[in-house]
Amino acid sequence: MCVLVFIPPSAYHMDRVSFRSDTVLSDVHLLLPNTCHLMSCLNGVGQPVFVSKFRILRGGNGGDCAADLGSLGEEGENGDTAINPQTPLDEDGDLDVVRRPRDPIKDRVGVYPVILSQAEVASDQDEEDEEKQQEVIRIEHTMATPLEDVGKQVWRGAFLLADFILSQPTMFKGATVLELGAGTGLTSIVMATVAKMVYCTDIGEDLLNMCQRNVALNKHLTEPTGGDIKVRQLDWMADDLCTDSESDFSWTEEDVAELHDKTSFLLAADVCYDDDLTDAFFRTVYRITSHLCKPSTVYLSIEKRLNFTLRHMDVSCEAYDHFRHCLAELQGMADGKMKYTIKQLENFFPQFLQYERVDQLELWKITSSPLQTSAEEV
Ligand SMILES: C[S@@+](CC[C@H](N)C(=O)[O-])C[C@H]1O[C@@H](n2cnc3c(N)ncnc32)[C@H](O)[C@@H]1O
Repeated sequence: MCVLVFIPPSAYHMDRVSFRSDTVLSDVHLLLPNTCHLMSCLNGVGQPVFVSKFRILRGGNGGDCAADLGSLGEEGENGDTAINPQTPLDEDGDLDVVRRPRDPIKDRVGVYPVILSQAEVASDQDEEDEEKQQEVIRIEHTMATPLEDVGKQVWRGAFLLADFILSQPTMFKGATVLELGAGTGLTSIVMATVAKMVYCTDIGEDLLNMCQRNVALNKHLTEPTGGDIKVRQLDWMADDLCTDSESDFSWTEEDVAELHDKTSFLLAADVCYDDDLTDAFFRTVYRITSHLCKPSTVYLSIEKRLNFTLRHMDVSCEAYDHFRHCLAELQGMADGKMKYTIKQLENFFPQFLQYERVDQLELWKITSSPLQTSAEEV
């Protein structure tokens, strides 16, 4: 997560996005080299909206591909990307990536949106091979937001969880799954390519509407497998699920019953970055898992972000430390009802999506099961 510096608006033209000092920008969007950022419209609060395409590399060999795969090799029959024998290697055998010449104007801190006309969108779609489209996730997102709108960007943790799901399809096949803090919905969409039902949850009408549009944009991926996604509001700060029929994203009685009866997996990508929210998130995990009829497993991804703080006069990772504290508390909890087991998983599974799987990305597994009451033991 980058905090960007203030750029005086007067120095820029209208077609350039300027950033406020509290603006955050996901590295996922920073790391799209040689990519033209296509702005499709402004959202309800005046933020530029982009649509990015993420190709699923079904060969699962994207592990080393942190940069633009198109420049590394030819695409094989299965969508695999093979390394071109002509690709130069350095003395250690690493790819010697040819950098594009730096453009002193374009390489300034800034995003240069191209506003798409409807005609351009259509011809762009026409030109693309339909078969390849089947393996492309299209995600509407914003490029830089204030902290309260971080869910409108795609974060690396979402890709890590998506990779994990794609590497374990049989485990999730036919399952009912709940995602907390789903943001743009990318992980839920990938989950719905294998699971039967995904409750994709977050807060805020604007974000949930964006998420709903992303679900619709990716029907080509979820419909063939019969996976369904319901976008719902679930606020960790609230004690109950929102059942207010006035809200577009409220829960029906059937939803609540299905959630409690059938859910066996919970997911959450990059949701622990603020201590109060992290506390609320863990309370929610406890509340939900303790109401499920089945034992459940929670998969959490987190990026351990290092920050220099004046308080410590050193680099620290306070949000991560608090996350670890909450994990330990959950495992040590003795409420007499539930038992939680925590385990960190290795990140060695294949990479199906293009992003930089940095060392700070972690995947955690929480197993939750009800303790037998003494009445049941008799
Ligand atoms: C860093 S974003 C991660 C989004 C997405 N999972 C991803 O990795 O791309 C954190 C998410 O937590 C959500 N969130 C923050 N506070 C929340 C709350 N009180 N209840 C539910 N979701 C919340 C945000 O709206 C946002 O979508």
